Amino acid sequence: MDLYQEAKQNRIDFQSEIDALELTEQSVENLRIKYLGKKGIIRYLFQGFSSVKPEEKKEYGQFVNVFKNEVEGKIEELQESLIKQKTVAEVFDHTMPGIRPQRGSLHPISLTMREIVKIFQEMGFDIEFGPEVETDYYNFAALNFPDNHPARDMQDTFFVEKDILLRTHTSPIQVRAMQKYQPPMRLITPGRVFRNEAVSARSHCIFHQIEGLYIDENVTFADLKTTIDIFAKRYFGKNVKTRFRPSFFPFVEPGAEVDVTCFICGGEGCRVCKKTGWLEIMGCGMVDPNVLEESGIDSEKYSGYAFGMGPDRITMLKYGIDDIRLFFDSDIKFLKQFK
Ligand code: DAH
Repeated sequence: MDLYQEAKQNRIDFQSEIDALELTEQSVENLRIKYLGKKGIIRYLFQGFSSVKPEEKKEYGQFVNVFKNEVEGKIEELQESLIKQKTVAEVFDHTMPGIRPQRGSLHPISLTMREIVKIFQEMGFDIEFGPEVETDYYNFAALNFPDNHPARDMQDTFFVEKDILLRTHTSPIQVRAMQKYQPPMRLITPGRVFRNEAVSARSHCIFHQIEGLYIDENVTFADLKTTIDIFAKRYFGKNVKTRFRPSFFPFVEPGAEVDVTCFICGGEGCRVCKKTGWLEIMGCGMVDPNVLEESGIDSEKYSGYAFGMGPDRITMLKYGIDDIRLFFDSDIKFLKQFK
């Protein structure tokens, strides 16, 4: 019998075996091994292809392929009907571990802002928010920026239209708060700010600020220093020291910048603090009487302090992140690391 004849006989045999089959897992498995196994009939028929007469090769090849599909289809069918005969309890393995759903996490900057805000809340500060689209009045004029101040220049500010802009800092919330509330007031105001700057590893056109404001009778620079020092020790660690350097901001007088001892090297000098041992964390000062008066607060009776800090920079320092753009890339792999 030549191979083609043999193949035809195998196909007939297969059919009669199916007809006579008593359906059990073992009988189906035996059948599968006999026909589809490594030493099975189908393999044997394919391997013998070269011994088939040249004029029959095409027909033979087609025949064996059809046969193979038939066997595969039938065996799959039998396997399925075996599964259907089982009860749910036999098929369903309730001891198998479940699939955990993906858990979201807070953005690193949100984490920093929440932590900072919480410290001030515990010191009696209320949270206040303000609009991201501001007027020139709140963002600049009411904060004592002269008409020709360079910060009003087109290069720094995104204008929506004349006199309407994206706030360049959270300080306008101070003005809105002073118009809304009577002293004493103690506010902490987290928010997003915008500046028309080229995006690079060090700076972005969108970033965040947290503003603080305290107005009451007899508020002094000593109150400001104490509050900031307590905050710095609570946030960066109890061994951290602070120092205030004179600086200028139009809306405060006197104004200062605050440095903390580098919490990476403990003030020894390292790459992060550029060997100085200090890191700058915020601007602050006593609210300028012009700003109080502009918002209807009697500067003879009341005084206050204000401060503003950048949580983006603080987050970068804390986690050793050297590219601010990572915060805005929405890369899950990056964001997942902060829990
Ligand atoms: N608004 C300032 C800025 O964006 C930061 C700042 C400095 C805020 C001094 C203050 C302050 O409240 O008193 O650079």
